[in-house]
Amino acid sequence: MSTDDLATWHDLERAAQRMLDPAVHDFIAGGAEDERTLRRNRRAFSDFALSPAAFRDVSAVDARVTAHGAELSAPLLVAPMGGHRLVHDAGELATARGAAAAGVATITSTASNVPMEEEAQGNPARWFQLYVYRDRGITKDLIARAADAGYQALVITADTPVLGFRRRDLRNRFQPQVRWANIERYAAGRLPDTNDGSAIMRYIADQLDPALTWADVEAVVAESPLPVHIKGIMRPADARRAVEAGASGVYVSNHGGRQLDLGLPTLAALPAIADAVAGRATVLLDGGVRSASDVLLALALGADLVAVGRPVLWGLAAAGPDGVRRYLDDLVRGVRAALALIGVRTPAELDRSVLHRRSGRTWEPFPEEST
Ligand SMILES: Cc1cc2nc3c(=O)[nH]c(=O)nc-3n(C[C@H](O)[C@H](O)[C@H](O)COP(=O)(O)O)c2cc1C
Repeated sequence: MSTDDLATWHDLERAAQRMLDPAVHDFIAGGAEDERTLRRNRRAFSDFALSPAAFRDVSAVDARVTAHGAELSAPLLVAPMGGHRLVHDAGELATARGAAAAGVATITSTASNVPMEEEAQGNPARWFQLYVYRDRGITKDLIARAADAGYQALVITADTPVLGFRRRDLRNRFQPQVRWANIERYAAGRLPDTNDGSAIMRYIADQLDPALTWADVEAVVAESPLPVHIKGIMRPADARRAVEAGASGVYVSNHGGRQLDLGLPTLAALPAIADAVAGRATVLLDGGVRSASDVLLALALGADLVAVGRPVLWGLAAAGPDGVRRYLDDLVRGVRAALALIGVRTPAELDRSVLHRRSGRTWEPFPEEST
């Protein structure tokens, strides 16, 4: 399909839905239990509004930032997602190439379908997401391989001690038929064969370590040759703990509503976490980010970097690497335009003075300090 026909993420999602096996579409689109966190992630953006400043000389807007030595065309990353070959034969390599063409960094999942060493050819701006295995030998080997393959940072996911209860996958008896390319060399490299849709759930219960504590995180940070971001932080106290543990980044995420239902929307959690971090680490956010104005809201509320998940898979499904590039290019161009429309020249100039928050039927300026 030509990407000319696919202007917005809505178009991409509709095209992907038409093309994909319904069980695969459900796996990507769905969330945990009644999917309230999934919906609230999106809705939280409607609780805020932006107030543009007039006549600020925005003739030279520059959205670029540098993250771990790589220049990005805007403060944007692709969130780590397993299973890209469920939607496109070239899998994560195609995603990496599409993102690279747009100047956006990719975070490769432990559960990717292309070996991380191969995917590394696709994007010079790349991070690796790590699930901590019960078998610490596997964890160590994954970290060493990521460093050898030139990944610039590690992202440890905190919100998956067990898999969220995903009703769509259980109802569909979803059994992903793809290779888990990063882990197939280990004894823990295969998903169990089940016919009740619980294969991923069982795999995680058997292989990932639900007993992790901050002491383990400190040990990984101390041993890692790469800077570490902690993904799935939703409390200010945990953000402070992550900084004390030596993390370079605090990644506000609820796994796109796929883990705990009724978990707080990420945008609502962000301001207090950004205040708690107070510039001591990079703050990232994902969850429901779709359009450039969503990115700007998150940046104004205190995020340094913003990640997008599902729309990238819709782009990949609909049009391969070009679909990914097209979606992300639009997002980057939209970020540049929105910066100018608000009256700032760079992402760093954004602060809470541009924000209003809904209060009943009116809009109030957002307090500078949220706590
Ligand atoms: C299909 C799919 C697979 C995912 N796999 C992972 C994963 O392997 N590791 C991880 O930390 N997060 C994973 N996530 C969560 C994403 O990193 C991210 O937090 C979420 O998708 C962001 O929300 P959004 O899709 O609304 O942008 C996955 C999400 C989806 C949709």
